[in-house]
Amino acid sequence: MRLSDREFKAMNRPFRKLLQRRVELPFFKKMGLSISGKHVLEIGCGSGYGAELLMGLHPESYLGVDLMPEQIALAQRRGLNQCAFFIMDAEDLSAFNTGNYDVIIIFGILHHIPAWRNVINETSRLLKKGGRFFIVEPDLKFLKYWEAVFKWGHPAENDFSLKVFEKYCQELGFIIEKKKVLLFFGFYRLLKQGRQA
Ligand SMILES: C[S@@+](CC[C@H](N)C(=O)[O-])C[C@H]1O[C@@H](n2cnc3c(N)ncnc32)[C@H](O)[C@@H]1O
Repeated sequence: MRLSDREFKAMNRPFRKLLQRRVELPFFKKMGLSISGKHVLEIGCGSGYGAELLMGLHPESYLGVDLMPEQIALAQRRGLNQCAFFIMDAEDLSAFNTGNYDVIIIFGILHHIPAWRNVINETSRLLKKGGRFFIVEPDLKFLKYWEAVFKWGHPAENDFSLKVFEKYCQELGFIIEKKKVLLFFGFYRLLKQGRQA
């Protein structure tokens, strides 16, 4: 769902970029993120700062999708000519072909989407066999405290938690290859099973 004005502003402040650059991307790299020569999809790409960072790792292609036209407009203004950005609901990515991506990346969006399982279903469909899914998300406990203090308007009806997320991914056949929890934030590397065709 759309971000509240308050969160939209916060997401586009330098501190958010600092976290993404100095904590989240380095964590993913430590977990083995390697996208050189690969086809990459970022779901919930926001204003495209993640794309800017990821382009430094030389993917073969990069596609970013986000629900909010304001975010995609900011992303398109970055002048990242090799990146494609689309306004799209992550629950329905049927515009893209099955098994098209080597790596799918999410920097914190499922806690905004009550029907987040649909996003995982789409992730599983779009990844090649043997492809990797990197994701960082805050746990439900953290979100409840955060919401009580900062009132960012996260959807209260969302049951997303790290435990439920892990269980659902495993049920879909993902293997959790790496996991690290840092201050209520879960970082994961998941493998879509099977040999690449
Ligand atoms: C917390 S922000 C994170 C943005 C960016 N990944 C970052 O790390 O700065 C969550 C993002 O998810 C997007 N979003 C929320 N629901 C979505 C949906 N159903 N489909 C696609 N994007 C969605 C929002 O528009 C927002 O840009």
